[in-house]
Amino acid sequence: MKSLLSLDLLTNDEIMDILKDAQEFKRGSSFQLKDKIVANLFFEPSTRTHYSFNVAEEKLGMKVLNFDPGSSSLIKGESFYDTVKTFASFGVDCIVIRHTQNRYYDELKNIDVPIINAGDGTKDHPSQTLLDLMTIYEEFGKFSGLKIAIMGDIKHSRVAHGDISIMERLNMQCYTSGPDEYQDDKYSFISMEDALKEMDVIMMLRVQNERHTEKMKLTNEEYLSQYGLTLDKVNKMKKNAIIMHPAPVNRGVELSDEVVECSKSRIFTQINNGVFVRQSILKRTFSK
Ligand code: CP
Repeated sequence: MKSLLSLDLLTNDEIMDILKDAQEFKRGSSFQLKDKIVANLFFEPSTRTHYSFNVAEEKLGMKVLNFDPGSSSLIKGESFYDTVKTFASFGVDCIVIRHTQNRYYDELKNIDVPIINAGDGTKDHPSQTLLDLMTIYEEFGKFSGLKIAIMGDIKHSRVAHGDISIMERLNMQCYTSGPDEYQDDKYSFISMEDALKEMDVIMMLRVQNERHTEKMKLTNEEYLSQYGLTLDKVNKMKKNAIIMHPAPVNRGVELSDEVVECSKSRIFTQINNGVFVRQSILKRTFSK
């Protein structure tokens, strides 16, 4: 049985195998994991990741426990470790975890049940990276040589950090853009103007207000005008270029309303691909 904690621990071939299996699921593979019990432990809010894991698990015929932190013994002071250890002691076969702490899984080394990381702090979001890769591969049939700009609140984004780490390994050229205060010096910066002209993929990010210690200096309108994507900017993108966003979207901040479902947007394709990628991850968990 195999945990999935970070894609940094997988080879490129292992990543491609997960994507291939995800394509099989999209084509209608009938692979099942009946009688396996999975527990979804989300210690941080989530819609897409939590419920697409849930849909993936149901499609695989698994039995699913959805943990609700607000009505659990966390409220009585039970620790994160003891909560996970409790589910392992129930005899569940797999645990899916999202937590605010980077590398929360370091605390769980003696938990003898495979763990799937559904997002840790600002570090990693492996299933999101895989669904992003699947969406790009479906569009272009390759990774090598493609140019992507990830724009917005890079500093607080586990998607940016996780995606860039793997995309660079797959020979994509990665850039970041957006307000100075949200940039990370270790990445190559590109202006909005150059990104519109040169990129194959523009991935917009949400301003993650819940992770900020200080309120954003710009108003939403100022952010949209200076750093967001509006239709006039979309019309300057390359003919075959696409727009991605991990969502949730702040409509009217990083994307204007009409851009969310414009012809270049793959935002809802990403969400759809998330189910197949998560089926593939769960299949891998129980493979030899
Ligand atoms: N993209 C993503 O992780 O969304 P959720 O926070 O809704 O799971």
